[in-house]
Amino acid sequence: MLKRLLQTLFLSAAFCSTSASESDSIPILDLDVISYEDFMNEDPTTLRLLDKALHEKGIVGMRGIPTYKEKVLNYIDAARRFSSLPENVKEAYAPNRERGDLFLGYERGKEKFKRPDGKWVIDDQKVSYYAFVPDCPENMWPTEVDLKTSFLAIAALMASVGEAVMHKIGLTGPNTGIYINGIPRVGRALHYRKPTEDLSDNPYWCGSHFDLSILTTLLPAFYFLNGEEIVEPLEAGLFVKTTQDGVFKKVIANDPDILLFQVGEFGQLATNDAIRATEHRVHKAKGAVERYTLALFTDAPMDTVIYSTSELTEDSRYGGKAGSPCSYRHWFEESFKRYIVEETPSQN
Ligand SMILES: [Fe+2]
Repeated sequence: MLKRLLQTLFLSAAFCSTSASESDSIPILDLDVISYEDFMNEDPTTLRLLDKALHEKGIVGMRGIPTYKEKVLNYIDAARRFSSLPENVKEAYAPNRERGDLFLGYERGKEKFKRPDGKWVIDDQKVSYYAFVPDCPENMWPTEVDLKTSFLAIAALMASVGEAVMHKIGLTGPNTGIYINGIPRVGRALHYRKPTEDLSDNPYWCGSHFDLSILTTLLPAFYFLNGEEIVEPLEAGLFVKTTQDGVFKKVIANDPDILLFQVGEFGQLATNDAIRATEHRVHKAKGAVERYTLALFTDAPMDTVIYSTSELTEDSRYGGKAGSPCSYRHWFEESFKRYIVEETPSQN
């Protein structure tokens, strides 16, 4: 029973050679960053900005969370040390689904995304490590590198601040009837490997998509070239499609003290489109650049049932027309079926 619950809880994540003309053509998002202290003190201007940013831009940053930066840096260091292990060592921490393992642990290239031309492509340069937060016996942790301590520390902080944000903007609580007390979050360590092909083949480390859960909290990304940290290349990184004008814009958050928040599809469903899920993608860097980050997904309890009138009910995953019931479990499982690659892709 617990296993079933946990299983369905999943899924709910250069060397600046850019020319002037290239930089002119990249739309940059005017990222709003609020202060943690002002947020906690319920400063009205701050709360208005938080709400407006998530409604109009689909993303917002928060700076100044106590102990956050230190936890971020510790995590990035551990994630890089884990990534440097031989592939066969890392693969030992991949779930064996035939054995009935959950999705937890190491994963390489398991998601597919539909391009605008209709072709499905696998994000084979994206590597993940999944764990529930807080820790539980089902989590798998490597013994060669202590990934566990820093992963759980930063993810717990993200979970706590994310919960406060969700409540404040009405994604949880009496506004939606969704209460997430005690629901484990899904943490996803992300390592985007050095691009191996011409960017014109697939310019994305991660194709355009929406997260399926209620809210995603996200670290700013860290980039490395030949083992040295570099500033995020202009052409690379997170791009979000703003609800304000429907244009994909680059999110620049070159500050390890910023925590980012994005809205997921179930948040849109539960608020009947009052707030919209954030469409986003990750652009590759030119050259041998690697990218590290961590995302934390907030699911609803699996037995949550909504009667949404959102336009998202037209998606076949909803399983009924507007106003009909849909459980989070159903939404979750249908999303899983659509986006997860069945076969193990080539490990080149
Ligand atoms: Fe995502």
